[in-house]
Amino acid sequence: MSDVLPTPPDLSVADPTSFAGVVVDQVSKRFGEKVVLDRCDLAINKGETLVVVGRSGQGKSVLLKHIVRLLEPDEGRIWVEGHEVTALERSPLMELRKKFGMLFQGSALFDSMTVCENIGLILEEHTDWPDERVRARACECLELVGLVGTEDKLPSALSGGMKKRAGLARAIVMEPEYILYDEPTTGLDPITADAINDLIIKLQRELNVTSIVVTHDMASAFKVGDRMAMLNDGRMVFHGTVDEVRGSDHPAVRQFIEGRADGPLGVF
Ligand SMILES: Nc1ncnc2c1ncn2[C@@H]1O[C@H](COP(=O)(O)OP(=O)(O)OP(=O)(O)O)[C@@H](O)[C@H]1O
Ligand SMILES: [Mg+2]
Repeated sequence: MSDVLPTPPDLSVADPTSFAGVVVDQVSKRFGEKVVLDRCDLAINKGETLVVVGRSGQGKSVLLKHIVRLLEPDEGRIWVEGHEVTALERSPLMELRKKFGMLFQGSALFDSMTVCENIGLILEEHTDWPDERVRARACECLELVGLVGTEDKLPSALSGGMKKRAGLARAIVMEPEYILYDEPTTGLDPITADAINDLIIKLQRELNVTSIVVTHDMASAFKVGDRMAMLNDGRMVFHGTVDEVRGSDHPAVRQFIEGRADGPLGVF
């Protein structure tokens, strides 16, 4: 398949120790026999929104989890603002994680806690705020994602799209500098999806948040992204500004962004 894909770009960073942002440096990961990431390189500049696209099962969620070291690479290194995440001891790793908000693909809410408690949990862990302040901040974030009125419900009482938005409220509750969004608009109606796109843009513009957005939703990708990278067979096979991607005449890139079954990427 490699001859039908674009020539992989050189995304290596000469000196990750002085790079303001995130550097993924030759990261490889396998599960059993399956190689998921294969010497993957990627760099995210401070303040930008990078969209990662790629077919299902190509390792996008696995890549995001490596950035905050929820998964350990077999080989390679990850750097954040010059710190090698993959080498940090537990305590500095916990400090660094405070800069990150993560929206998990499956929302990952605790079933036995109310929505408000789920959102406030991270504040309980990392601040000494009184309960009222924690609740007020959680409510503020729920309002931002359009979930006023769900505060005291259990996640099981929410629809899939509402859970997704609750997960997003939790991702932003600590006012993170970096947000990792795993499929932020999947399962949302088009109007809510666009409101989430607007929120992603607002967070970047007003708070200078640096984001990595994994998505299959090309309308969202083009709207929120500054740059776009495509993961295939464990590596980034295409990379460019959203305008470059839009204007690309490469058949594999066009197939993906136009969502067609026929083309060099095949179906399965
Ligand atoms: N913890 C794990 N243990 C074993 N295999 C895993 C684990 N996590 C992911 N995988 C495998 O790694 C591959 C990539 O998974 P990943 O979830 O990153 O795909 P993805 O690109 O996010 O797909 P999708 O678009 O469907 O979300 C899959 O084959 C998956 O089965
Ligand atoms: Mg995924």
